[in-house]
Amino acid sequence: MGLTARAQGDAAKGEALYKANCTSCHKIDQRMTGPALGPAITSETDDKWLTKWIQNNQALIAAKDPKALKIYNEYNQAGMNTFTNLSDGDVANIIAYVRTEWKTMQDDAAKKGPATGAAAESGPSSALIFGLIGVIIVAFIVILVLNKVIGTMERLVLKRKDLPAEELEPETEEVAVDKFATVKRLAKNKKLVFFFILAGTVALGSWSWVTMWNTNVHQGYQPVQPIAYSHELHAGVMKINCQYCHSSAYKGRNATIPSLNVCMNCHKVVKTESPEIHKIYDALGYDPQTQKYDTTKARPIQWVRIHNLPDFAYFNHSQHVKVAGIECQRCHGPVQTMKEVYQYSPLTMKWCIQCHKRTETNYKGNAYYENMIQVHDRIKRGEKVTAAALGGLDCARCHY
Ligand code: HEC
Ligand code: HEC
Ligand code: HEC
Ligand code: HEC
Ligand code: HEC
Ligand code: HEC
Repeated sequence: MGLTARAQGDAAKGEALYKANCTSCHKIDQRMTGPALGPAITSETDDKWLTKWIQNNQALIAAKDPKALKIYNEYNQAGMNTFTNLSDGDVANIIAYVRTEWKTMQDDAAKKGPATGAAAESGPSSALIFGLIGVIIVAFIVILVLNKVIGTMERLVLKRKDLPAEELEPETEEVAVDKFATVKRLAKNKKLVFFFILAGTVALGSWSWVTMWNTNVHQGYQPVQPIAYSHELHAGVMKINCQYCHSSAYKGRNATIPSLNVCMNCHKVVKTESPEIHKIYDALGYDPQTQKYDTTKARPIQWVRIHNLPDFAYFNHSQHVKVAGIECQRCHGPVQTMKEVYQYSPLTMKWCIQCHKRTETNYKGNAYYENMIQVHDRIKRGEKVTAAALGGLDCARCHY
């Protein structure tokens, strides 16, 4: 043992143990099923208590340890596994690993500064705004200086004309008395007032333009989901087709999240002992022992929605996926490599419009466009064309 009471663990050995035992429920910097471990295992946390908790949290809870009860209740009594197989030394290694990892993460974050992905995206636009403000300030200073110069020159001209000194005196006195004389004089200057109105309009205009372009930028948004479902595993390693779970993306407006019954096609038999899979069972009211469903016990899973356009923007998946033949990944990124899905594209109006400007439509052999060509010919021949002929009977035209 070391000289201090703190267990001196080996972070390298801890890493392997941590990855094997803890990552299914914990992350170091984010809440998952269990708390974020970085902030929970700080240098202040009592290692003895931690060791007891990690080895057998249920014993601590049964003994009504106040801290253990508090955490247990805070996490809706989700219940952590016991790890009686881990020795004190193993636990010390895990703790050492979490502490070093967390410290590196914090140091990295400090280096990067508060800028996030979203801030980086809106970077050029704030640069634009600051640039504009800079130009306005410089212009203002130039005008002030010019005004001074003009004032001095005017005075010189007046003096040349040999006007009586008294006429000049009161004005200079007034300047000394009234501190705001300069401001008043500037306010009378029509050119200056016009300049300010112009600058104000330009600044306000560009601000609203940038705001509209970037409405609701949530790029990089990656919420923790209630079940640690991984696209990397299912869509990547196991190569399950996106269509298997998101078939509605090919049929209509929404891609929709699959119902848990789709998961049960496999998980009735696959990984039945996993606590994550038990969440599926609980949500469906399924009892793996009797293999029966009790719908009164069902508690639907609340997946956290990641992509979300504002209601006033209409986006239709099938139009892009089926009609235009665009791959999911062009808009959603490499989902098949994502353990947790995050928002890959900015989903701004700018993003939609830039793609519309650059992408050719795929009109050959497309029933929609063939119909349009027929309609076009009928119009040319002067025949009647109904709204129905223009697709006015398609359900999705009227129903969201
Ligand atoms: C099956 C999921 C699961 C696994 C696996 C798991 N934990 Fe937990 N852990 C939890 C939950 C849930 C809590 C919150 C308390 C509760 O509900 O029991 C928690 C709480 C904790 C806490 C207390 C945090 C605090 O706020 O003080 C520590 C420390 C901890 N876990 C460490 C670990 C370590 C280390 C491992 C790996 C050896 C591990 N856990 C594995 C689910 C898990
Ligand atoms: C086995 C079923 C399954 C397969 C296969 C699958 N997904 Fe998913 N997908 C889900 C579930 C469940 C969620 C909700 C949980 C989550 O966000 O991880 C989801 C969420 C998503 C989301 C985020 C939705 C939101 O909330 O905005 C996108 C985007 C997505 N999937 C795209 C894809 C793509 C692209 C593929 C194919 C490469 C694919 N998925 C394959 C089940 C599946
Ligand atoms: C085509 C079969 C199939 C479907 C459908 C499927 N899974 Fe899986 N899933 C698997 C397999 C196989 C594994 C285990 C891989 C392994 O051995 O680690 C797995 C692993 C998992 C795990 C990790 C379990 C653990 O503790 O390691 C979770 C969570 C999970 N699936 C959730 C889901 C959810 C949620 C759905 C429905 C949206 C779903 N799965 C649909 C086959 C499937
Ligand atoms: C042209 C870009 C684009 C393509 C291609 C695309 N998506 Fe999306 N996806 C979006 C947008 C935009 C949203 C947000 C829609 C909203 O909030 O109304 C979204 C939302 C989603 C959602 C969340 C649920 C929903 O419908 O709002 C899922 C799941 C999803 N997409 C899966 C897919 C899958 C699977 C594919 C491929 C078959 C795909 N997407 C192709 C742009 C795209
Ligand atoms: C990856 C490129 C891409 C992105 C990104 C994209 N679109 Fe499209 N969009 C297309 C293509 C290509 C078409 C033409 C499809 C066709 O042939 O009908 C289209 C068609 C449309 C149409 C139908 C236009 C019509 O003919 O009536 C609407 C509406 C639309 N997109 C909305 C959006 C919105 C809203 C977004 C952003 C949230 C978006 N799109 C993002 C490529 C894209
Ligand atoms: C031209 C526009 C239009 C088209 C096309 C259209 N609907 Fe409707 N539909 C409506 C309107 C409007 C209502 C609401 C009527 C009311 O509230 O009295 C409605 C109501 C409904 C309802 C009843 C909803 C409820 O909550 O009572 C259903 C179901 C429905 N439509 C299905 C469809 C299907 C399926 C298609 C495609 C075959 C379709 N609609 C095509 C306009 C349309």
